Amino acid sequence: MLNKIFIRAYFQTVKAVRFTFDEIQNCSSNLNAKIEEAYGSHGLGLAIVSGIPNYSKMRLELLPLAQKLAIQPKEYLKSLERPEAFHSKGWSCGVEQFKGKFDKSKGSFYNNPNYDTPHDLGKEYEHLIKKGSLIRLDNVWPNRIPELEGAFKNLGRLMVDTGALLSYHIDKYIYSKCNTYEMGKLYRYIRSGDSHVGRLLHYFDGPNTDEWCGWHNDHSALTALTCPIYMHNDKIVDYTDKEGGLLAKNRYAEIMKVGMDPDCLAFQIGETAQIVSGGIVEATPHCVVKSDETVRRQLNRNTFAVFMGPLFNEVLNVPKGIDKNKALNKPAYNIPSLLGRWDENMTFLEYSANSFKAYS
Ligand SMILES: [Fe+2]
Repeated sequence: MLNKIFIRAYFQTVKAVRFTFDEIQNCSSNLNAKIEEAYGSHGLGLAIVSGIPNYSKMRLELLPLAQKLAIQPKEYLKSLERPEAFHSKGWSCGVEQFKGKFDKSKGSFYNNPNYDTPHDLGKEYEHLIKKGSLIRLDNVWPNRIPELEGAFKNLGRLMVDTGALLSYHIDKYIYSKCNTYEMGKLYRYIRSGDSHVGRLLHYFDGPNTDEWCGWHNDHSALTALTCPIYMHNDKIVDYTDKEGGLLAKNRYAEIMKVGMDPDCLAFQIGETAQIVSGGIVEATPHCVVKSDETVRRQLNRNTFAVFMGPLFNEVLNVPKGIDKNKALNKPAYNIPSLLGRWDENMTFLEYSANSFKAYS
């Protein structure tokens, strides 16, 4: 209850730094000042990109399908689950733990937007695959909603492509602050990473018993997020959630409500980029809350995120000459510490597996 009063009274809506698609697709744009404002030591760790060709149409084609999928019969949804892949593909609901309870407040549908079949990782990973600690499964598509596959891939690939353009400028900014940073590293991760994860999310309507998603950092390098659509049953409602939705902590651990425009994509820094930049860009602690107004109007929330990371064998080190402690999360953020999940010379695969355990 106290928590809810606090949300109403104090969470200020912040306007994220906005890039235009035209400026990020121009390699010669000097966006260092804006990148610093968005992702640097005083930034929110989140920025938006406007004017992305075809984005609005693709968003409206995909997001309502989250609701359409979530209301399918339980047995059908069960057939789309892949517990053997730790639910990293297909349908998942009530599997993640949140505050010690299984989270049934949302349903997720995961796939790789770029590749239906995972790449062969080669001999180096055979022992992990044999041991069962690395499971690589094909994408799973629901035959009852045939339009979902194309809509998911179209939007997911657009988000990856736009993320790559933005990361080119984030790289330039990091390099301007640290000349031992490998120029173009994040761009390389996003272009060559073969395990990007698209997550179509449906947050169910229902009583306001808890947050929809607790405080965390993404462990990706960069996460792309759509502005959500709210629906009453299967009808899209023209609604802006003034009190709930996405909240983020700024660099002073103050909680801010993130204002998003429907025609923009948001990009958040994840811990992988924080590590390899030695903390020059910082991940964004964030959560999703359900407001009383959303509950009163019986609205469900539908959104799509794409988590972009490097190849699994990429070693995550801070740039030469930077103290590794600069890459750690600030204790004031009150989220799982990076210590114990990451250390120098660790691969992205090891770090991801540790993070997965820490959050489950
Ligand atoms: Fe997240």
